[in-house]
Amino acid sequence: MSTLSNKRIIVGISGGIAAYKSAEIVRRLQDAGADVRVVMTPSAEQFIRPLTLQALSSHPVHADLLDPEAEAGMGHIELARWADLILIAPATADFIASMVHGRGNSLLNAIILATPAIVAVAPAMNQGMWAHPATLENMALLEQRGVRIFGPDSGVQACGDIGPGRMQQPQEIVDQVASCFAGQSLSGKKLVLTAGPTREAIDPVRYISNHSSGKMGYALAQAAVEAGAQVTLISGPVNLIAPERCNIVSVISAADMLEATMQACSDADILIAAAAVADYRPVTVAAQKIKKHDDAINLELEKNPDIVSAAASEYSNLFVVGFAAETQDIESYARDKLQRKNLDAIVANDVSRSDVGFNSDDNEAAWITATSSKVFGKRSKTQLARDIISAIADQIDD
Ligand code: C5P
Repeated sequence: MSTLSNKRIIVGISGGIAAYKSAEIVRRLQDAGADVRVVMTPSAEQFIRPLTLQALSSHPVHADLLDPEAEAGMGHIELARWADLILIAPATADFIASMVHGRGNSLLNAIILATPAIVAVAPAMNQGMWAHPATLENMALLEQRGVRIFGPDSGVQACGDIGPGRMQQPQEIVDQVASCFAGQSLSGKKLVLTAGPTREAIDPVRYISNHSSGKMGYALAQAAVEAGAQVTLISGPVNLIAPERCNIVSVISAADMLEATMQACSDADILIAAAAVADYRPVTVAAQKIKKHDDAINLELEKNPDIVSAAASEYSNLFVVGFAAETQDIESYARDKLQRKNLDAIVANDVSRSDVGFNSDDNEAAWITATSSKVFGKRSKTQLARDIISAIADQIDD
């Protein structure tokens, strides 16, 4: 059975030349078993006739937010609730900007605002518009909010320019819609994640920490929510917005993180330790700010507890995934850590590179278990997170 069987999909069409490809998308989604409704913005109707889409989808096309008759039939809130996924294809630069601002000025915008469904966009625009910082920032914001982004492709454009901004081909878009549903692999599982750095106080105003941004851990939390898991995210101090639908526990020090993790793992199925826990902490924390009277001072440090090892040995049924940030001999160090910390799997990456890893939006990693290993080449942390979550789901299923 196709993953799209009986799935309810709204195809939203905004006003761009690629709108002619939307008819083919509707057709192919239906061929794959999906129940499709079409919603058009007023400008989309300048590019493709609603009648074509009505005939293909076998349902009236929805276009008008203020049409009392249409609202009495299936209103915007009902459509928003009906859908499992809303695909905007093509998504023009203007429509993307309106989504970023949370506008509700068209039927399609109102549905997107009201829906709990997965939202995906297939951008289509001139290469200059795609490369504009406003568009790039808008795309980054949408991605951060969990909107799936399909493409765009690069090549010759309708206007004669060459570059990125072409909408992907219909079949490629349909395949990605299907893969959004293939990911419900952790449905019903309780997953605990540690993320971000920890801060170890020296005195009331100073601390020891590291450069972890928390992006990988937050991307994992998002991917785990998408995969149907019930997620508890135990986070050190970061500048990130927690993904929706996950239970966030904010902590500062490794000791706080240990306590929160042990508590959350007591009834969990999976632990992913993505936090960059400070290795050492000051033995004593000065009660008052340390004054700079002396030319040199000595700070005595003691080792922090190993959170992931503690959880792995306390809870033997927990599936435990650790991270290894290495600068050399990555696989052999990672394997050693896998054994020493009693992990089921480890995600190893090379932190000596500046184009991936700490503070970057991209990452490259190897997934290593006692009996296997595979490499995830350079990709966005969002995509890598989805790949890691699928690897966990495959392993648990075995
Ligand atoms: O020993 P190392 O810091 O390289 O190990 C990295 C892995 O162990 C990561 O998964 C990290 O979250 C976890 N860790 C931990 N508690 C520590 C140190 C590391 O959970 N004190």
